[in-house]
Amino acid sequence: LDNGLARTPQMGWNTWSSFGCDLNANVILDTTRKIVQYGFKDIGYEYIILDDCWSDGRNATGYLQPNMTKFPDGIKGLADQIHDLGMKIGIYSSAGTMTCARYAGSLGHEDQDAAVWAEWGVDYVKYDNCFNEGEEGTEKLSYDRYNAMSMALNKTGRPMLYSMCNWGVDGPWLFGPTIANSWRITGDLIDTFDRDDPQCPCVEKEGLDCKVPGFYCSLMNVVNKVVYFPSKAFPGAWNDMDLLQVGNGAMTDEEYITHFSIWAAMKSPMIMTNVFAEIDARTLSILQNTAVLAVSQDSAGSSATRRWRYFVNDTDSFGQGEIQLFTGPLSGGDQLVLFLNAGTRDRDMNATLEEIFWESGVGGRAPQVREAWEIYDLWADRLSNAQAAGIIAGNATIPFNMTAHGGSPREVYAQT
Ligand code: DGJ
Repeated sequence: LDNGLARTPQMGWNTWSSFGCDLNANVILDTTRKIVQYGFKDIGYEYIILDDCWSDGRNATGYLQPNMTKFPDGIKGLADQIHDLGMKIGIYSSAGTMTCARYAGSLGHEDQDAAVWAEWGVDYVKYDNCFNEGEEGTEKLSYDRYNAMSMALNKTGRPMLYSMCNWGVDGPWLFGPTIANSWRITGDLIDTFDRDDPQCPCVEKEGLDCKVPGFYCSLMNVVNKVVYFPSKAFPGAWNDMDLLQVGNGAMTDEEYITHFSIWAAMKSPMIMTNVFAEIDARTLSILQNTAVLAVSQDSAGSSATRRWRYFVNDTDSFGQGEIQLFTGPLSGGDQLVLFLNAGTRDRDMNATLEEIFWESGVGGRAPQVREAWEIYDLWADRLSNAQAAGIIAGNATIPFNMTAHGGSPREVYAQT
């Protein structure tokens, strides 16, 4: 959406995975202060987003009102305090009669709700898909519901980033880019690498009798979906792979590194959802890897593309034993290379320059293979700069030892 916002994927923190309906002004302000103190604001994290359960329905004149027990100063009071800390505030509603937690939804109240959010000083709206009165199921009807809010937000004159959350239903990558700043491509990501509900997995599989595809997705489910839409992402319009589970505890450190790396490479919004009161040094070092964030926030805004995928027969895997290579252009002529080892064993993986620069080879332009390129490992030194990891030239390949469930991006810099 061309509203001047999200020119690079939005960054911030959302209440949902850690606090669910137990959110209140204290928790949110404590988190905001920590986010600022720990230096997250300085490296680009910007939005503090209230998810479901902030509301107390509508007042006599039909305006949404906050739960005053949870938010004694109202949302306007909270917004002022968040703004005073130098951050921005996001709010949540649903393109239906109710939100998923059964608070008032915004369907049919778009103008009134957008107006009150603007008055409160809201900077960001996440717009969910519950209780849509059976109107999901055709692209047009989703389009109508989501476009109505897009127009309403625009009418307020206040810049509000618009984050569509219709779970990949009705092809949001088709109509999202013109009406929203980002759109969810799947149901909810849960804190797991590749386990799945065998009956009703997140990604529909033939031969299974599921009334609806499962709503909860593993990291690998989401990765194996986003690969179809890299060309839909561009400045102001991003594929949303859902909240960053980094720090929530159910994945290994290596899996969280993989998670953070792929979200950056695919230009997903980078929205944390961990408990800041309990943050540990390892979580900090992942969420604050500025070399990987530089990939996410690269001005070219170009999503990486999956170059290849092979299945591997790791017998103890959950059926996602596979390895993949992603590459993509960065501004300044650099190139991102990401190896994903989704198998359960460590293994060497490698790539040639032809694979790394495959898209620029289209149309007969493949001089890169004759030149030498410097390689940097973006995870060698977690908290600061990428470290040199060799040179690649000609037909050589550089083998990378990849830990099981690992996904470490390498950046190939301008030729030496
Ligand atoms: C479903 C969404 O996909 C989640 O991200 C979250 O917003 C919940 N609804 C809230 O009820």
